[in-house]
Amino acid sequence: MLQLDRLSKHFGGVRAVDEVSLTVERGQIFGLIGPNGSGKSTTVNLVCGLFPVTSGRVLFDGEDITELPTHRRLAGGIARTFQNIRLFENLTVWQNLWVAQNGAEDRQQGFLKRWYSGNRQGRAEIEELLEFSRLHDKRDLLAGNLAFGEQRRLEMARALAAKPSFLLLDEPAAGMSQEELKQLSERIRALRERGATVLLVEHVMDLVMDITDRIAVLNFGRKIAEGTPEEIQANEDVRKAYLGGAAEQEEAASA
Ligand SMILES: Nc1ncnc2c1ncn2[C@@H]1O[C@H](COP(=O)(O)OP(=O)(O)O)[C@@H](O)[C@H]1O
Ligand SMILES: [Mg+2]
Repeated sequence: MLQLDRLSKHFGGVRAVDEVSLTVERGQIFGLIGPNGSGKSTTVNLVCGLFPVTSGRVLFDGEDITELPTHRRLAGGIARTFQNIRLFENLTVWQNLWVAQNGAEDRQQGFLKRWYSGNRQGRAEIEELLEFSRLHDKRDLLAGNLAFGEQRRLEMARALAAKPSFLLLDEPAAGMSQEELKQLSERIRALRERGATVLLVEHVMDLVMDITDRIAVLNFGRKIAEGTPEEIQANEDVRKAYLGGAAEQEEAASA
């Protein structure tokens, strides 16, 4: 469904993403992991078209989308969350979802026409999203007044409002409690059951190992490993680059 073909992004001398190739199949939950600064968010940004690539290609459903602007990719079914939450803080929860839902639709249609024609079904979909994200009793609160975990849920609901077939989640578990983590993994699984494909960038290892079908590991912008969660956990290069510190601590603790 998504194919990166020797994709690179350089910022001046920094090779943030360096000749990365990978394929995400339809229906997969694909994990993208790596230490801080290894190029994960930059990869997400390239898939969304936030800035131009240095070289390489992004293919979606077999079509070369490397040069497509962000809104065309969104209309084509690619949506994302941001590592740093981006909501309209002075709009309510409901309004945030309405804007996300209607921003993704055909811009030729006038605002009023959309407001009347799409109104009923659109509202029903927002209700369902509020339910799904457990935000139904927060609908009239300003987004800026939500608790952190609620903002994260709204951030994901906002991405879902565009009815994406492909969802990129950039560290959705950051700062979450154990209980919130459990609910998050249930929601991601539920998304797959509804037919979505997910690229999950994440730091919380338990979550990645638990819910992904396949994982790619970045280090200094390069892909150093790819495989099943079991293969990645057993991979020596990955342990060195990424899990090394934690593994050594574990060994020291158990010694
Ligand atoms: N807009 C930018 N301008 C300059 N350098 C950037 C920019 N975005 C990311 N970088 C650099 O690219 C590298 C990869 O960053 P990033 O993709 O955010 O890593 P990760 O998400 O894995 O932590 C880092 O060295 C970072 O400083
Ligand atoms: Mg990042």
